[in-house]
Amino acid sequence: MKSSITNFQDDFYKGKKVLVRLDFNVPISNGEVEDDFRIRSSIPTLEYLSRRGAKLIIISHLGRPKGKPESYLSLKPVINRLQSLLPEKKIDWIDECIGFKVENRIQKLQNGEILLLENLRFHSEEEKNDEKFAQSLASYAEIFVNDAFSVSHRKHASVYGVPTLLQYRLAGLQLQKELKYLTKIRDEPEHPFVLVIGGAKIRDKIDALQRLIDKAEKVLVGGAIAYTFLASKGYSVGKSPVEDDYISWAAEILEKKEKILLPEDHFVAPNIDERNSIQLVGNEIPSDMIGFDIGPKTSQNYMSIISSTNGTVFWNGPMGLFEIREFSHGTMDIVIATILARLRGAETIVGGGDSVSALRKIIANKSEVSHISTGGGASLEYIGGKVLPGIEILKDK
Ligand code: 3PG
Repeated sequence: MKSSITNFQDDFYKGKKVLVRLDFNVPISNGEVEDDFRIRSSIPTLEYLSRRGAKLIIISHLGRPKGKPESYLSLKPVINRLQSLLPEKKIDWIDECIGFKVENRIQKLQNGEILLLENLRFHSEEEKNDEKFAQSLASYAEIFVNDAFSVSHRKHASVYGVPTLLQYRLAGLQLQKELKYLTKIRDEPEHPFVLVIGGAKIRDKIDALQRLIDKAEKVLVGGAIAYTFLASKGYSVGKSPVEDDYISWAAEILEKKEKILLPEDHFVAPNIDERNSIQLVGNEIPSDMIGFDIGPKTSQNYMSIISSTNGTVFWNGPMGLFEIREFSHGTMDIVIATILARLRGAETIVGGGDSVSALRKIIANKSEVSHISTGGGASLEYIGGKVLPGIEILKDK
C-alpha cells in the first residue's frame, strides 16, 4: 500500500509547495483540447490539495517531441480547460519547466494557487532521467505527488528521479483508484471473469494476456490481434495484419484454452478508403480484402456473454477501426454490453486509450462503468506483473 495524499492532517499542506506529476498527454487539435478525460481525472487531487492551502506546481509531458520544443506540443491549450474545470482557482502558466523564470514565479505562489509548467519532454534530460534535471525539478517543492498512473511505467526524471530526492512522495487520488481496480483484476477478479481483448498488437499485450487468460472464464478476441489468432488456425485472413512472431504462441494457447473465442464474421474492404466496397464475410477473408471490424454474428455472441456476466468484465482494445463510422459497430456493441453488465452488478473496467475513447462517445456518466483507466501501456504492464518505477518509488504507507 502506498502512502497517499489523504494520509496527512488537513493543515499539513498549508503553505507547502507540492509538485504534482500529472499526465496531460491529451489529443490537441488547432490549439483546443479534443478529449479532456485525463484532465478531468486530475481534478479531485488538485482540488484536495488546493483547498488545504498547498501551492501547486503541475508538471506533465505531451506527445514525443524528442527533447526539443515543438509549438504543437505545448501544454498551453490545457490551461483553458483546466481553468474551466476549476473556475474558482487561480491558475497560471509558464512557457518553461526549468530555469530562473520558473523558480522566480514559484517563490511568489500563494496558498491554493496552481501553476502549470511547459512540456517536460522539450528537454531530452526528462526521458534520460538526468540527475541534474531531476534535482532542479525537485528543488521546486517539499512534497511530490504522482497522479499520473498512465506514465508510471516510464523511468523518467519527473516520474522516478524527482521522487527519489524528496522525503514526501505520495500517491494522488486517481493513481490510488487505478491501483485499487487494476490490482484486483490482476490478483483476484470476481468470477465469472470475462476478458474482452482487441486492439492492434499482441506484442504490446502479451504479459497481461498470459496472466489474464489463466484467470478468465471467457476470453473474447477482436480487433487486429484476432487475425493472428485466426491465421494460426489456418484461416485465410486476406491482407489483414498478422504478427508472424506470435502465430505459434497463438496456436498453442488456442489448443490449450477452449475458453478463447474468436470472431466468426467480419466487415472487410480492399482498403480503408474504399468504403463503398465493404462486405460482410465469414471466417475466410478474400485474399484482396482487409478485416476492419467484427461482424454482427460475433457481436451478438460477445454481447450476450458480456451482458449476462455479474462478476468482472475487463475490456482493453477496440474490436475494429471504430474511428470510422462504418467500422465502429463491433466496438460500440461492446460498449453497450459493458454498460449492461454493470447494471447486472458486474465490476466493469475499461482500459487503453482507444477503448476509453469509444466508451466516452456513448456513456453519459462515469458510473455506467466501475472504472475507466487512464493508462494504456501502463495498465497492461501493471496487470502483466511488471513493477512500475513511478509506483515503486512512492513511499509505503
Ligand atoms: C500514454 O499516453 O500512454 C502516456 O502518456 C505515456 O506516453 P508515452 O508512451 O509517450 O510515454
